[in-house]
Amino acid sequence: MTLPRSVETADVAGKHVLVRADLNVPLENGHVADDTRIRAAVPTLRLLLDRGAAEVAVCSHLGRPKGPDPAFAIAPVAARLAELVPDDRVRVLENTRFLPGETKNDPGTARHLAEGMDLYVDDAFGSAHRAHASTEAVAHLLPAYAGLLLRAELEHLGRLLGDVEHPFVLVAGGAKVEDKLGVLRNLGGRADTVIVGGKMAEELRDGATLPFPVELPPDVVAAASFDAHAESRVAPYDNLPDGWLGLDIGPDARDRFGELIRGAKTVFWNGPMGVFEWERFAEGTKAVAEAVAAVDGYTVVGGGDSVRAISELGLDDDVSWVSTGGGASLELLEGKELPGVAAIPPEGT
Ligand code: 3PG
Repeated sequence: MTLPRSVETADVAGKHVLVRADLNVPLENGHVADDTRIRAAVPTLRLLLDRGAAEVAVCSHLGRPKGPDPAFAIAPVAARLAELVPDDRVRVLENTRFLPGETKNDPGTARHLAEGMDLYVDDAFGSAHRAHASTEAVAHLLPAYAGLLLRAELEHLGRLLGDVEHPFVLVAGGAKVEDKLGVLRNLGGRADTVIVGGKMAEELRDGATLPFPVELPPDVVAAASFDAHAESRVAPYDNLPDGWLGLDIGPDARDRFGELIRGAKTVFWNGPMGVFEWERFAEGTKAVAEAVAAVDGYTVVGGGDSVRAISELGLDDDVSWVSTGGGASLELLEGKELPGVAAIPPEGT
């Protein structure tokens, strides 16, 4: 994969630098509930400051507002960033999605963002699949470079698209088979084993098909209703009591999946095995997280829920790479070009 040129090659001393980061983090009661993405943006900002940038204007979207909306104001994110990078050369711009032309990739909006700036640094891997004014159009108006996080994500995820060490095990869970089919098609054919659990496994049982064999859970934890306290019991995957729902993979599936994963040399995991936010249905996701962490090889975890599971279990340091991109990592692994990346000149230029 050709990488976009790195900010490390830019002369930033005395310059006004516009940085697009992906600071789209979950908020709870007006506070940042998980600052992973904010922390991931810090190394690029430090590099710019250490190399003498005169000003670092950071922009990001937050949520999906349809225009200016106080519930999506960037202030709590800016406050957390100021704690992490206390430097008065850093300024955080208001939510880019408050700008009417942002999601339309409007050149006027991009000109507004570029005004007074000398350089553009894109570090927003999580938004690189969006052709928006702050991720795409603006890259054509200023000398554009990739930030450290964007480069690292491309390098790590890109490794899965090249020659990998086998066995290569792909673990897919969560909902929306449709969203993940592209990745399964692109990587599934090259993987030695494709494990499917969680809501995806339910969807496959209900008729969705994949173009290659997959390992489905032999058993599930079935519940009488979609409720954290519902009556539940272990049932065979293909024989649930009438009207019941599979809310987690069962003990046999945990053993089987765990064994397959631990034997791997390369793993990509995206999506939980059940409703892991509810303790009673979290065992399958935990078992997969622990198995991935135990692998002696190259392991990548992507997608909000699986990343959350890995970090809640304190296993971040036991996997090779935890991606900050959900949709972006899926599109990259589908083999699609990411507009935010394509807009930056390649390295060597
Ligand atoms: C994400 O959270 O996946 C990115 O920040 C992109 O957000 P979006 O799906 O609202 O464009």
